[in-house]
Amino acid sequence: MATLAILSALAEEQQGLLACLSQPVCLRRAGREVWRGQWLGHEVLLALSRIGKVAAATTATALIEGLGASRVVFTGVAGGIGPGVRVGDLVVATDFVQHDLDASPLFPRFEIPLYGRSRLACDPVMTALLLRASESAATGLAGQFDPISGPARPTVHAGLIASGDRFVSGAAELQGLQQRLLAGGHVALAVEMEGAAVAQVCFDYGVPFAAVRTISDRADDAAHVDFPRFVRDVASPYAQAIMTAFLRLLSSR
Ligand code: ADE
Repeated sequence: MATLAILSALAEEQQGLLACLSQPVCLRRAGREVWRGQWLGHEVLLALSRIGKVAAATTATALIEGLGASRVVFTGVAGGIGPGVRVGDLVVATDFVQHDLDASPLFPRFEIPLYGRSRLACDPVMTALLLRASESAATGLAGQFDPISGPARPTVHAGLIASGDRFVSGAAELQGLQQRLLAGGHVALAVEMEGAAVAQVCFDYGVPFAAVRTISDRADDAAHVDFPRFVRDVASPYAQAIMTAFLRLLSSR
């Protein structure tokens, strides 16, 4: 049976997922706790990526090499940087770029050395399912939470996500980051710290990968205040609603 690994960065994001697992068994790999169990008839592994690209790459490798994950989904929070991407919205990744990767002048800025590309695409089939799951979760979650401005219903966006080893928390810093990305031809909707690394590991192993991020902050001067509040109150039910809808869609295929 195919084994789906679901990665989250933080324990708060994972809480609601763990509650859905039947017959959970705790395994240890590379110092990480991995929960194996059944969810809506699927064999599922739940793990924390930890924070940052290297930690996330280790976790993804352990799940694929050590525990036989044959598909990987990341669900977590991100800073919204695209126009109209508000706190509480959902961003489904179409592809990833590492905003802090720069081996110039040997390789063009952002290009992953020896891969001949700067972006890694998500699996189109799983991404289409994740988009549908996010839309259905957004409808279910409408009005239940008031993340900050209280949108009536979270908007679901699809596009490029930029990852880097940096919590982006300042308007000036964000402006510089966006200008550099734009100069390289990249317009990202959100920033986070793990997705591109997991995408690269999955690319190396030929394992389908998809990712969805709930927007916890706008990567601006208020990000450090908005982020913990959102993670505490909202991230877990969002992840649970999205992944429940995703697994239902996966069953009905
Ligand atoms: N994850 C959530 N918010 C973020 C931010 N502002 N920067 C990087 N990663 C994040």
